[in-house]
Amino acid sequence: MTTTLIKNGTVVTATDSWRGDIFIDDETITQLGVAIDRQADQVIDASGRLVIPGGIDVHTHMDLPFGGTVSSDDFETGTIAAAHGGTTTIVDFAVQDRGQSMRKAWDTWMGKAEGKAAIDYGFHMIMREFNPELGREMKDMVGEGVTSFKLFMAYPGVFMMDDAGIFAAMQRSGEVGATICMHAENGGVIDVLVKQALERKQTDPKYHAITRPARAEAEATHRAIALAEMANVPVYIVHLTASEALAMVTEARDRGVPAYAETCPQYLFLDYTNYEEPGFSGAKYVMSPPLRAREKQDDLWRGLAGDDLQIVSTDHCPFCIKEKELGLGDFSKIPNGAPGVETRLSLLHDGGVRTGRISLHRWVQICSTAPAKMFGMFPKKGTIAPGSDADIVIWDPEKVLKLSHETLHMRCDYNPYEGRTVVGAPEVVLSRGRVVVDKGTFKGKPGSGRYLRRAPRAI
Ligand code: URP
Ligand code: ZN
Ligand code: ZN
Repeated sequence: MTTTLIKNGTVVTATDSWRGDIFIDDETITQLGVAIDRQADQVIDASGRLVIPGGIDVHTHMDLPFGGTVSSDDFETGTIAAAHGGTTTIVDFAVQDRGQSMRKAWDTWMGKAEGKAAIDYGFHMIMREFNPELGREMKDMVGEGVTSFKLFMAYPGVFMMDDAGIFAAMQRSGEVGATICMHAENGGVIDVLVKQALERKQTDPKYHAITRPARAEAEATHRAIALAEMANVPVYIVHLTASEALAMVTEARDRGVPAYAETCPQYLFLDYTNYEEPGFSGAKYVMSPPLRAREKQDDLWRGLAGDDLQIVSTDHCPFCIKEKELGLGDFSKIPNGAPGVETRLSLLHDGGVRTGRISLHRWVQICSTAPAKMFGMFPKKGTIAPGSDADIVIWDPEKVLKLSHETLHMRCDYNPYEGRTVVGAPEVVLSRGRVVVDKGTFKGKPGSGRYLRRAPRAI
């Protein structure tokens, strides 16, 4: 059994901040103290550094067949990149194919991750349909630790379910103690707008955004919450972008409805004008929902500060330029998604904490503690406390990092923030007590990540 002592750091959790030491027995934090006087196999000096719980990204798509291709990071490259950025847990999405069991989907995704993941991982399950057999399987999945199901109100013919299917799956989810994750965009409306744009020969990437209006997101968000309220199940709106949609979440939360939402760094730091970059460059930012107007970003920041938005995840779903070019001459064929799993903590530290938009504690909360609580991983994950997994980041709050696909580790030949400089980055990253990243060098092992059986929600 290896013992580790982290000394002299400023430990920051969602609630506390103190100077001191952390003792780790093998994989688990066993002691916190102001000056721990014990021998350890490994001593890490954290003087002048913050010591935070490892980041938890509850929205990634590694090795996802989507948009006529497959996302370019697999569980090895994607989790190594995540670790470099200070994320020590991901929750990815397994996909149930039409006519297929969820067991089969879970087995497939377990197979994709096994032997590859360098950090711990769990799965949500994407359901493409609902029927009594799948309803029975939802309980089995909860038993396997898949305690959240993602449904889609968009992508007709691919992922979209109608309201009846959504409502039935929601009812069942409520019965089995699971949370519904919802992709909330009105897919029918968007489909009409896309066809009309293409008929007018409006084929450039920017029409992806123009045909997915904020109101289509707000309408679906409102409908998702109303359906969940009637079905008596908590609903978590994924990748919320529009302040019009946030208003729907806020209204429901003010009435005491268990409605929750995440946003992603791209919606806080990029905007519609990125689609107007020359040539086909706008395709780099094609994701759904799309980037919105910069003027609206303050609403998202206010939502994060005031807890109407609880989490920032990444929706990491990278495609290289060659893949994006499937949509040359037809924006609707551009694979949807962008890289992000590695840059979340630094972007939020630089653009959130350093600008005073959120506190250090709120940063830890939205990037680690709240995701752990929302998705049944707390207190094993998401905090620094005796008994918790030793997923720990020694964070250098002054480190200057230039974001570029050439130096970052995600398997993607562009980065949406190319050339941007951020302040704050990990120095040492531990996953269950083992150093996986040390000053920019990967020290972990593909396959050492462990599957996380998540607990059902407490409410
Ligand atoms: O554009 C996106 N968001 N791609 C990933 C799939 C999804 O809807 O989350
Ligand atoms: Zn989605
Ligand atoms: Zn996604």
